[in-house]
Amino acid sequence: MTKTLGLIGAGNIGSALARLAVAAGLDVVLSNSRGPETLTDLVAELGPRARAATPAEAAEAGDLVVATILLGAYEQLPAAALADKTVIDTMNYYPDRFGPIAELDESGLTSSSLVQRHLADSQVIKAFNNVDFVRLFTLARPAGAPDRSALPIAGDDTAAKAEAAALVDVLGYDPVDIGTLADSWSSQPGTPVHVDPYFTAKPVRELSQEEMYGWYVQAPGTAVGADQVRALVGSAVQPALDHA
Ligand SMILES: NC(=O)c1ccc[n+]([C@@H]2O[C@H](COP(=O)([O-])OP(=O)(O)OC[C@H]3O[C@@H](n4cnc5c(N)ncnc54)[C@H](OP(=O)(O)O)[C@@H]3O)[C@@H](O)[C@H]2O)c1
Repeated sequence: MTKTLGLIGAGNIGSALARLAVAAGLDVVLSNSRGPETLTDLVAELGPRARAATPAEAAEAGDLVVATILLGAYEQLPAAALADKTVIDTMNYYPDRFGPIAELDESGLTSSSLVQRHLADSQVIKAFNNVDFVRLFTLARPAGAPDRSALPIAGDDTAAKAEAAALVDVLGYDPVDIGTLADSWSSQPGTPVHVDPYFTAKPVRELSQEEMYGWYVQAPGTAVGADQVRALVGSAVQPALDHA
């Protein structure tokens, strides 16, 4: 059972996961690219269960580690420090927003398979990639709650998947196994289970960018149960390779 969660990345998703983990009684070790001293405020807010460290230290400290940085920086994940660990990959590929990764476009590999190739001695599990960071925090519920949501997880290693599933459960969601890392395309951006089902409200009038952000942060989420996640994933259509 995970007692200490290591986090590489402490932005929107990393800090939401840290809040859920601390609320669930886990210790968290947070890290980012700028150094532990830049995480003082977040650590103070999280309280005595949290501390900040370097990415390699967070990797070593975690019974289980979450990699939640921008995908384009995946080669900076500390492979040696992450060896023999289960690593949860929340990262999504957004070529239009953050630039293309030729290897992905040309090979048809899923982004998590690419991360697994870099972290060859770790067991990579895809999770927490299909819900936005506000709803990730606000939709979390204890086991058995009637409005508990589910989240897909994918991975190649059975034991690591079980470990990640237990974490998903502890943090407030029912895990739904959607297959291997090669199958994880079915929860990526643009697929039916990605973000939208958890977030069905729409603003009632046209908003400025600032108003839109305020609305987005406040907007309620929608519970998405395990059967619905299975149906949404099952209805996904695999994108063709661009050059095919
Ligand atoms: N935002 C969402 O709602 C959402 C939902 C699902 C999945 N995702 C995915 O989850 C990942 C994180 O998203 P986010 O919104 O949390 O991003 P974010 O707010 O931009 O945070 C990124 C974090 O990664 C850190 N970082 C960047 N490069 C690093 C490196 N080389 N080593 C260690 N830390 C590094 C950043 O630290 P510094 O600030 O110090 O550089 C920052 O703490 C992305 O891949 C995204 O596609 C996001």
